[in-house]
Amino acid sequence: MHPKRRPIIAGNWKMNMTATQAKELASKLIPLVAAVKDRDIVLGPPYTALQTVSEMIKGTNIGLSAQNLHWEDKGAFTGEISAEMLLDLGCKYVIIGHSERRQFFGETDETVNKKVKQALKKGLLPIMCVGETLTEREAGKLNDVINRQVTGGLKDLSADDMKKVVIAYEPVWAIGTGKTATPDQANEVHALIRQKVQSLYSAEIAEGLRIQYGGSVTPDNVSQLMAKPDIDGALVGGASLKPESFAALVNFK
Ligand code: PGA
Repeated sequence: MHPKRRPIIAGNWKMNMTATQAKELASKLIPLVAAVKDRDIVLGPPYTALQTVSEMIKGTNIGLSAQNLHWEDKGAFTGEISAEMLLDLGCKYVIIGHSERRQFFGETDETVNKKVKQALKKGLLPIMCVGETLTEREAGKLNDVINRQVTGGLKDLSADDMKKVVIAYEPVWAIGTGKTATPDQANEVHALIRQKVQSLYSAEIAEGLRIQYGGSVTPDNVSQLMAKPDIDGALVGGASLKPESFAALVNFK
């Protein structure tokens, strides 16, 4: 953590939680994190639970995120969801380019970039995900992959827009596997990302950029991760699905 950057802890529920289950989770979670003032708390339910969660967190210290969006404003894009629809439901953030979207749904740096730009144009704060696979890491391609994803995802973004972006570093091999990157491994890549952003923008923008770590973050390892200077938050899958464990994560010391 860095004194100038406000920590941001986000739960990515993925394709879990019906609206009914979401209501129960949110109602238990809200009181457990109500006293938190010095960090941002974000919930990312599936589209079908956004409305329910939005109503429940109104007036609380929790922000709402979607897990994806389409880059066009509206029209004949069956099955897709627009920025305006998300804003209308009270979303403030949107997760973009999660590795599962890249792996299973054909997202590329180019589509990620279009979505990031659309989110910013419409007033949503993007949480842009990057991260290497195990094969890429073992082949010594870590730096190349991260540089390519960061450069590609942020292409043509103005400096003012860049100030609103959160980047999530999620090594694919650590997602849902119980295999966390060590705090040093994670911090090393966070520093690399920050350096890349500095070279694309400025030292000031890089200093202000919040970079979350994601990949098997739990209440047991969050504090060691957050103790690292370039780690500014967590993007949490599995451990965000239980109110007690997500609250413990948010309340890390
Ligand atoms: P995990 O997922 O915490 O279950 O590893 C993280 C993510 O994919 O955002």
